[in-house]
Parts: sequence; structure tokens; C-alpha cells
Amino acid sequence: MKKSPTTRSIVIAVDGTAASGKGTLAKKLAAHFHFAHLDSGALYRLTALAVLDAKGDPKDPADALKGAQSIDLSLAGDPAIRTDVVGQAASQVAAIGAVRQALLDFQRSFLASPPGGSPGAVMDGRDIGTVICPEATAKLYIDARPELRAHRRWLELKGMGIARDEAGLLAELNARDAADKSRPISPLKQAPDAALLDTSDLGIDAAFAAALALVSTKIEGALKDRHRG
Ligand code: CDP
Repeated sequence: MKKSPTTRSIVIAVDGTAASGKGTLAKKLAAHFHFAHLDSGALYRLTALAVLDAKGDPKDPADALKGAQSIDLSLAGDPAIRTDVVGQAASQVAAIGAVRQALLDFQRSFLASPPGGSPGAVMDGRDIGTVICPEATAKLYIDARPELRAHRRWLELKGMGIARDEAGLLAELNARDAADKSRPISPLKQAPDAALLDTSDLGIDAAFAAALALVSTKIEGALKDRHRG
């Protein structure tokens, strides 16, 4: 069987619903294991921003593909991509097969050769354990009750100086989750071999401890194998 391009790296796939805490957990896991980290959602958000900036339609396949082909990775940390307008447009461009295909190689290359010569990578998103890297060493599926996720997103946006009402955010998160779960291409779903972590009743430290407990045996084992081999 032809080997997948990522089989040599150690990979932690972190998928889950909007504002479930997957990004924070992915970053903390990466720091813990000294792995590289990629927030794949930023790629879809950057695509959406490129489309909106060009006055295009995020639902139009040609506009969306042009956006995916012109993303500026240096803007990944820009608060402009975190707004709910961009989030909704991200969900629309993410439903288009040509966009997902255009972003696939970048994600797989990142996993195959994590930056900085790291032995592994953590990637968070919607389809990492199901489509981008089904052979990931460890997989997590993160979820939390919608009201709590909306509250967390409200706090996050407030911290960035963006005022929003929580009810509106809750409606937007629910709509985006429904769209992400029901789209025909790469829908959000828990991979059969992913461990479910519900962060509703957990603070950041407790959620991280739980995530670590779920992946550590597999990751420590893979690191030992690498040292031996
Ligand atoms: O931060 P939040 O959880 O709200 O969303 P995100 O991870 O930044 O993703 C924004 C949107 O991009 C999602 O609603 C998905 O539609 C899309 N996305 C995707 O389809 N596949 C991924 N691997 C990551 C994000």
C-alpha cells in the first residue's frame, strides 16, 4: 500500500465544534510535547477574508477558490479574521470542494515536515482526524454545551476589543456548527478512533490535563519508538 505523506511524523489531530476550546488545547499540547502547531481554521478564515476584501461572494466557488489561492499567512494572527462575519464566510468557503483541495497540500506538508524540525505536529480543525490525517497518532474530538461556547467566544472577542451580544453569538455558533456538520464534503464529525472530550465543566487547566491524559500513552510510545528507530 502506498504510504501516506504524513506517516513518519507524530500527529495529534484535534477536531471539534466552534469555540469548544480546541485551539487552546492544541496550542498547549504542542507546547507540552515541543511539537509544531497549525490552526487549520485560520486557513479558512484567511480565505474568507481574502474573498470579502476583494468584494467577492464566499458562496461562489470561483471567488472562494481565488481567495484560497491568495491567502496571506502573515495575517493568521490578525484579529480581523476572528470576527463572526469572517467566521460565517469561512464556513461558506469551507463547504466548497475546490477550496478544501487547495488547502489540503499545505496542511499535509505541514504534518509531513513540521516546521523547526519538530518530531510532531498538532493540528486543530474540523476534518483533521477524518480527512487530512486519518492515520494520526492520537485524535481528540472537543465539544462543550453551546451556551458555554458562546460565552467563551464573547469573552475572547471582548479581550480583542470587539463588543458582541451573547445571544447573537450563540445563534451564529449553532448555525455554523449545523452547516459544518451537514455539508457533503468533509463534514465535522467525530472520527471512530477519536477520544471525546467535553470541556463544558472544565477550566483551561483541567481540560488540558484531561486532553493530555487521553493522548499521552500514544504520543509517549511514538516518541520512544522514534528514539529507538
Ligand atoms: O474558532 P472556531 O472554532 O469558531 O472556528 P475555526 O476553527 O476558526 O473555523 C472557522 C470555520 O472554518 C469553521 O466553521 C469551518 O467551517 C471551517 N473549517 C473547516 O471546514 N475545516 C477545518 N479543518 C477548519 C475550519
